[in-house]
Amino acid sequence: APIPELRAALLAWFDAAGRDLPWRLGSEGRRDPYRVWVAEILLQQTQVARGLHYYDRFLEAFPTVEALADAPVEAVLKAWEGCGYYARARNLHRAAQLIAADGFPTDYGGWLALPGVGPYTAAAVASLAHGEARAVNDGNVRRVLSRLYGEARSTDAWVQARADALLSPDRPGAWNEAVMDLGATVCTPRAPRCPECPLAAHCAARASGTPTAFPAPKVR
Ligand code: ADE
Repeated sequence: APIPELRAALLAWFDAAGRDLPWRLGSEGRRDPYRVWVAEILLQQTQVARGLHYYDRFLEAFPTVEALADAPVEAVLKAWEGCGYYARARNLHRAAQLIAADGFPTDYGGWLALPGVGPYTAAAVASLAHGEARAVNDGNVRRVLSRLYGEARSTDAWVQARADALLSPDRPGAWNEAVMDLGATVCTPRAPRCPECPLAAHCAARASGTPTAFPAPKVR
């Protein structure tokens, strides 16, 4: 299907069925950068359902970037308990001190320069908080796009190229959130709910009859 049609179908679904998540405060493309940044760091290794409890606990302990910057590192590590990968908590703390001194970054490059922020996190925060046209590429995105295009052997470069091409230039943050929500709630790994999917009519994996064959396990 033409890309504008795919965009319209997924964004309409997102507007009706997107999840109500605690970092989705503020209007689309203008989310609170602190809340989005903490969420994206936490969700790198933790699923949303499991991460919500930790997220609320962390935000309660450190409601603002200043509170995080001023806290002793021991308190930050304590609040991170259960989330694993403590290097991430240390990086959050160091980055918070840089932000407290210099202000929040305002674009992809600025985020990427902070400790602990890689291309995924920088794209997510730049699109959600600043409305910048950056496509995210994570496991959900890979599965959704592999299925949509019937590309079982999707490489990172392939996924990024497709994600870049599909990204809505008008609503980049909403588009990224929509693909992530679709992958988490409809286009799930083992039992996708194709009848509920706004892209089903265009989906090559669905047409093949075995959507769960896409993507094939990654060969390393
Ligand atoms: N997983 C990681 N980041 C997410 C986001 N912003 N929305 C939904 N799921 C996510």
